[in-house]
Amino acid sequence: MSEKKPRVFSGVQPTGNLHLGNYLGAIRRFVELQNDHECIYCVVDMHAITVWQDPAELTRNIREVAAAFIAAGVDAEQHIIFNQSQVSGHAELAWVFNCVARIGWLNRMTQFKEKAGKNREKASVGLYDYPVLMAADILLYHAEKVPVGEDQKQHLELTRDIAQKFNNDYGPRIRELGLNKFDEGFFPLPEPVIAGPATRVMSLKDGTKKMSKSDPSDLSRINLSDDADAIAKKIRKAKTDPHPLPETVEELKERPEADNLVGIYAALAGISKQDVLNEFGGKGFAEFKPKLAELTVETLAPINAEMKRLLADPTHLDAILKNGAERARAIADPIWRDVKAIVGFIG
Ligand code: AMP
Ligand code: TRP
Repeated sequence: MSEKKPRVFSGVQPTGNLHLGNYLGAIRRFVELQNDHECIYCVVDMHAITVWQDPAELTRNIREVAAAFIAAGVDAEQHIIFNQSQVSGHAELAWVFNCVARIGWLNRMTQFKEKAGKNREKASVGLYDYPVLMAADILLYHAEKVPVGEDQKQHLELTRDIAQKFNNDYGPRIRELGLNKFDEGFFPLPEPVIAGPATRVMSLKDGTKKMSKSDPSDLSRINLSDDADAIAKKIRKAKTDPHPLPETVEELKERPEADNLVGIYAALAGISKQDVLNEFGGKGFAEFKPKLAELTVETLAPINAEMKRLLADPTHLDAILKNGAERARAIADPIWRDVKAIVGFIG
């Protein structure tokens, strides 16, 4: 008998403009983990509406993220792809976790502070509560590994804190019911998978800012929907400094734009930043950028073409999501039933 494979869960928000950072930081990792894990990949539409989304656009964006998963190589038959709102357990478990998490914990979340900005009073309650729903996403499946970009590290720590407090608060009850499923208790403490040279891809216009879906400048990011010409142009126009590339990674430290482009190259080529510098050290950006553009197009063009093909048939994509949701529910339902028994609910 083979060992049961560890379970992986991750989510991407359908908020438009999927970009190279999403691909290198998350989606490509999703594909790599498939061989030796049981994977659940979720289009987190309930997270998306924590800031306003035009309804018709949201529907399109849900399909776009699902198409990106599949086009990048996620196998929707072996693994699960679905959208969050089709499985009611996410919202239900989030409620229980709302009563476990402490306001002080949420007050420390840097992403909320960034997203809410100065106008905190006007931010939605959902935006504040976002990390609790994220904890529910992961723990509803007892997932143990979560591939994400660097920016999600703090949210994963909160997820662990919530799991631990639940295990602790309900410890006697969990033992009484014989529901100690993990060493830590009923819930596992999930580990983030944040690895490789591109866990934080930066804006092409400012090497100190994260590449982001919401940056008003389209030149700041490479979208998964960009064609070869757009990619080449954006890389040509990417901000750099006047010096040639250095010989060592150490020397990239004070050069955020150079560091970012070298990191992107390394991630795309599947080599280390030092390997990139071994090849390009001493050379100027005029030589490096066309090579980077070529490599980016080579990677993204097939994904882009496959996404277009999939998006031309929304009925098919919707059927994949529906089927995924049914299989997700089959895993989530018994776990939610156990949670209700642990808490003391009837039914
Ligand atoms: P989001 O677009 O916020 O739903 O993010 C989806 C996934 O992409 C998450 O795992 C993020 O951590 C990751 N991600 C987003 N932006 C970047 C970036 N600039 N570099 C690396 N990973 C990113
Ligand atoms: N908060 C994540 C992001 O923006 C998306 C997300 C929601 C997620 N639920 C998740 C990621 C569960 C991993 C696991 O990027």
